[in-house]
Amino acid sequence: MQSPSLTVQNLNIRELGINPNHWYVVARSTEVQTQPLGVTLWHQPIVLYRDNSGGVHALEDRCPHRQVKLSHGCVIGDRLECHYHGWQFQSSGECAAVPYLAANQKLPNCKIRTYPVHEQDGFIWLFPGDVETLHSAQIQPMGVPEWEHLNYIATVSVIECKAHYSYLIENLMDMYHGHLHQDWQAWTDAVLEDIEEKDNRVDVHYQAQSYYKIDKIWSISQLFFPALRRLHPEPLDVSYVYPHWVSTLGKDFKIYCLFCPVSETQTRAYLIHFTSLNAFWRLHKLPVRFRRFVKDSLFGSAQKLLDGLVRQDVLMIEEEQQAYLNNSERKSYELNRALVSVQRLIRSQVERG
Ligand code: FES
Ligand SMILES: [Fe+2]
Repeated sequence: MQSPSLTVQNLNIRELGINPNHWYVVARSTEVQTQPLGVTLWHQPIVLYRDNSGGVHALEDRCPHRQVKLSHGCVIGDRLECHYHGWQFQSSGECAAVPYLAANQKLPNCKIRTYPVHEQDGFIWLFPGDVETLHSAQIQPMGVPEWEHLNYIATVSVIECKAHYSYLIENLMDMYHGHLHQDWQAWTDAVLEDIEEKDNRVDVHYQAQSYYKIDKIWSISQLFFPALRRLHPEPLDVSYVYPHWVSTLGKDFKIYCLFCPVSETQTRAYLIHFTSLNAFWRLHKLPVRFRRFVKDSLFGSAQKLLDGLVRQDVLMIEEEQQAYLNNSERKSYELNRALVSVQRLIRSQVERG
């Protein structure tokens, strides 16, 4: 019999699963209200809901009575009620009420799987792996510290692509694809300088020319008018912090990509772009209320830029996936050694999971 690690080594990277012993991002905080929300994380249908006191819960999206989706139901207090016959479930997964239970009948002894879930930095982080490992290894969500920081302006774009997650992370780690982005291009002339590989991450350092510099308050307008951009050298660092991605371009830009792999041919992710206001020290002396107002008013200021980049990337990634499905034997040529490190990390994580 083949050992599991041999199987992982032999399988094509585009067929590999995930290491479930990490925190994945399954929704934005604003998406989860008292109306239940159905999401899928690596083939597992999950229902998310917010109880009356604001707490978020995650359960398997399957009513144990007739196997329909609980996400069609509604929330009553802190219980989830199935749409079909109205059975109610506690957030711990136990059945709490059946509306037509006769006096001589007991509540069914069924329990739905629950998932550790955590709301942090504007997103819902979910741990699909082994709960004992979570506690013994004290695994923490990666987090997005700039989300609440008053010096950073955020823009969020949702990536929905019909492709394996490896295509998306390879796109994000390969800074030689600036060519694709033309008018939206944030950087050019990237040169890979250094790669560091650790158990949980790959850090790749490039030197590049950046198009943007945020040193005057009106510099933000570069995000709307590409013609205002001027090239200048900046370090460009990209990191695969399994299973997520983070990048910094000079001092002014930071981008995250938070992953929710759905299946071998579908990936959902959240791209978060931060423009830094660190250069404006006068702004930092103003009252916090005003700074919060500036941050909130400028939220989404890079939307057009970010959505444009995502559209261009998704088109390429989906074509790669289709080409693989049509002819998985065809060999590609890769010159960027960062992608070798990325694939090595994916394999070693899947092996461990
Ligand atoms: S199917 Fe859910 S209560 Fe009957
Ligand atoms: Fe891109």
